[in-house]
Amino acid sequence: MPKLHLHVNGEPVAIDIEATTLLVDLLRGPLALTGTHSGCDTAQCGACTVLLDDLPVKSCSLLALQAQGRRVTTVDGLARGEQPHALQEA
Ligand code: FES
Repeated sequence: MPKLHLHVNGEPVAIDIEATTLLVDLLRGPLALTGTHSGCDTAQCGACTVLLDDLPVKSCSLLALQAQGRRVTTVDGLARGEQPHALQEA
């Protein structure tokens, strides 16, 4: 089982995962970041969008291992201190 190293919402993460694990499933499952949703089976809705090195990607169509060594930002990580991000308020 490969070891994945990445930063999620500014925190380092090292985790053993199956090679076929989708990024959305890693985020919602082991990392419990449920702000990222899985809204379809066709990569059309965008509910799973996260930032990968500051660029938006659909985490349902990306293997978690493709984030090896990179930075992932989810909606859960957008707040600055106690102030929620406008996207979180919406
Ligand atoms: Fe719909 Fe990813 S879950 S685009």
